[in-house]
Amino acid sequence: MSQPEKLYEGKAKILYATDNPEILLTVYKDDATAFNAQKRGQIKGKGQINCQITAALFTWLGLMDIPTHYIDTPEPNQMRVKAVTIIPIEVVVRNIAAGSLCRQTGLPEGKVLPSALVEYYYKSDELGDPLLTRDRIFLMNIITSQRLEEIENMARKINKNLQSFFDKCDITLVDFKLEFGLDAQQNLLLADEISPDTCRLWDKNDVDPQSRVMDKDRFRKDLGQVEAAYQQVQQRVLAQLKNS
Ligand code: TMP
Ligand code: ASP
Repeated sequence: MSQPEKLYEGKAKILYATDNPEILLTVYKDDATAFNAQKRGQIKGKGQINCQITAALFTWLGLMDIPTHYIDTPEPNQMRVKAVTIIPIEVVVRNIAAGSLCRQTGLPEGKVLPSALVEYYYKSDELGDPLLTRDRIFLMNIITSQRLEEIENMARKINKNLQSFFDKCDITLVDFKLEFGLDAQQNLLLADEISPDTCRLWDKNDVDPQSRVMDKDRFRKDLGQVEAAYQQVQQRVLAQLKNS
């Protein structure tokens, strides 16, 4: 293959073109950022771990009839994906109150929500990923109401499947962020990643509010043992995929 063309470098991944215009290569980095890149660091081995966890979860979701952009992993930290146009909305699904939901509403951390909350944030580093309303989404002409409904339904279906998958890993899925893309035929595909960088994951058998944390909050809040937590998630997810 000729020297790959770098299309985009984000905070956690680099996107390259391949010889096939319908396929892109994502390289997962060990770099970690938080609070819109105000905090920066590295999590050793994170690139490989997040790539493997994403591959496993996208494979599982594919088996559950959820279309994803995932193709395969030619190297431990490299993922081949179908080329899509990313919709500039971060879809956050919450089962338990944590993070910005607690800060913005006063709900106590750990409160189980009566039903899953689906929220939309505008994917813009410049604007700090602000919370969107449905009307703002339509005002900004990002997507149609029909497409938004399709996204919400898919996000809820993904949540149901991920909740039961993580439950079998003895992990509570607190909340997570999804991104969606459109392929050349305008089909909606789950894209980007699902990993401890983009989820809140609590060890089901641990009630201690600090030691139960198995996700990027360990890095955000300087809780230590970040690598060990990511490795533990990887081990449990890969073992569960094998068993399912
Ligand atoms: P929040 O509570 O900070 O709004 O985060 C909700 C979920 O979204 C949490 O699982 C972490 C994830 N997330 C991202 O993946 N990227 C982001 O930039 C932010 C702010 C959150
Ligand atoms: N991913 C975002 C950042 O880099 C925010 C976060 O995950 O906390 O800054």
